[in-house]
Amino acid sequence: MRNMLKTLTLISVGLVAALLAGCERPPIEAVQNGYRGTGQEQISNPRSTAVKVALNVAPASLDAASPEGPKAGAIYQNVKILGDLSVAQFSRTMASITQWVAPKEGCTYCHNAANFAEDSKYTKVVARRMIQMTQRVNSGWKQHVAETGVTCYTCHRGNNIPANVWFAPKDRKYENGLLGDLAGRGLAAPSAGLTSLPFDPYTPFLKDSAEIRVNGKEALAATGADANRSSLNQTDHTYSLMVHMSESLGVNCTYCHNTRSFQSWEQSRPQRATAWYGIRMARELNNDYLVPLTDTFPDYRHGPKGDVAKVNCKTCHQGVFKPLYGAQMAKDFPELQVLAKQ
Ligand code: HEC
Ligand code: HEC
Ligand code: HEC
Ligand code: HEC
Repeated sequence: MRNMLKTLTLISVGLVAALLAGCERPPIEAVQNGYRGTGQEQISNPRSTAVKVALNVAPASLDAASPEGPKAGAIYQNVKILGDLSVAQFSRTMASITQWVAPKEGCTYCHNAANFAEDSKYTKVVARRMIQMTQRVNSGWKQHVAETGVTCYTCHRGNNIPANVWFAPKDRKYENGLLGDLAGRGLAAPSAGLTSLPFDPYTPFLKDSAEIRVNGKEALAATGADANRSSLNQTDHTYSLMVHMSESLGVNCTYCHNTRSFQSWEQSRPQRATAWYGIRMARELNNDYLVPLTDTFPDYRHGPKGDVAKVNCKTCHQGVFKPLYGAQMAKDFPELQVLAKQ
């Protein structure tokens, strides 16, 4: 009897410890950012904030180079988009992108050292398109990136491949194979914040343009234009995307929504509108820039279904409400601000 009691006590102590292991050690700070009484609070822990701050520092930009002298387009043989820069400016751009994307490998990550004009390495072909993509973000998506803008560093952070990209996941069957397909859910997947929500919210919303909707427009309207066409499936996917957005920015739902009505734009914060543009921007980057590069990338860079790595909110944000806490790195690189003629 005694032994049994002892065992039971041990088990319960173990259970409590296991439960508490899921909790965060205080202090927890709450900041109110909506109108009083709306409960639009941001919860954070100074310890995890300190870690994030250290990880999101922008590197110093190289000193500006002189615009004088002959143009790169006139001197070099195979310059298709940066030809208007002076040779000095062009060299500064090359040194900067090396620092941002291939600091260990250096120039030869993209170039054949014997002939810099050659396009023989796929990385150079990709990099040329990436320059155009960066120009497009900075010049065409100001509703999202404002004057902060982006450089290669925003996504790459010194890595050949950005730390946060996504692929279409392979089809998953239940373990015993009898129940058939998992229907894209039920895995406690990291992409859905360890919930059992659908683990691929990216394909429908950040590549395809599925409606991000939970509520109907009218109460009880079963037919006609106002009918609630939102299925449970669509609802699950919407929540999964919202978990991804919150995690990518390191914020709670109330950073954008008033929980009185998740749908109502009037009661949302302006940040929700910025996010709306962000969703459209991510779609464009994936469809117009990354997907067309699929065959340029070697097979070993492809996902389980043969698709190219794609962008989501986390690719730029990396856990912070503004990438690199809003450091205005891009302003030091005017060549990345305007769309070059092709
Ligand atoms: C991440 C890929 C990448 C890295 C790393 C890189 N470059 Fe480039 N480089 C390019 C691209 C893309 C072009 C073509 C630009 C264009 O078409 O406007 C280019 C073009 C050039 C050219 C013009 C060659 C010609 O005759 O057409 C020179 C010179 C050059 N790079 C030098 C360098 C040097 C020096 C380094 C190292 C400090 C370097 N590059 C690192 C991608 C890269
Ligand atoms: C919005 C995010 C984003 C920005 C900004 C960005 N990239 Fe990329 N980059 C990606 C993604 C996503 C991939 C795909 C990785 C893959 O398929 O393996 C990639 C791949 C690459 C690769 C191929 C690397 C490899 O080893 O396969 C190169 C080179 C590259 N980028 C250069 C650049 C340069 C240069 C810039 C700035 C002019 C830039 N990128 C800006 C997201 C970005
Ligand atoms: C960074 C801002 C942001 C955060 C954080 C965010 N949302 Fe959203 N949410 C949006 C935007 C933008 C839309 C509308 C998307 C569209 O229409 O393209 C939306 C739509 C929704 C909808 C659909 C409303 C309708 O019209 O049917 C629900 C429900 C929702 N969010 C719930 C949540 C929940 C729950 C969380 C936290 C897990 C969350 N959101 C976090 C920006 C955000
Ligand atoms: C190409 C990089 C990039 C991608 C991808 C991206 N963002 Fe952003 N985002 C930025 C930049 C840069 C800013 C800073 C703009 C500024 O200074 O006002 C920003 C700002 C925001 C803000 C405003 C924050 C504030 O406090 O004012 C929200 C909200 C946001 N992004 C949500 C999203 C969501 C949601 C996604 C994915 C659907 C996304 N972003 C994808 C680059 C990106």
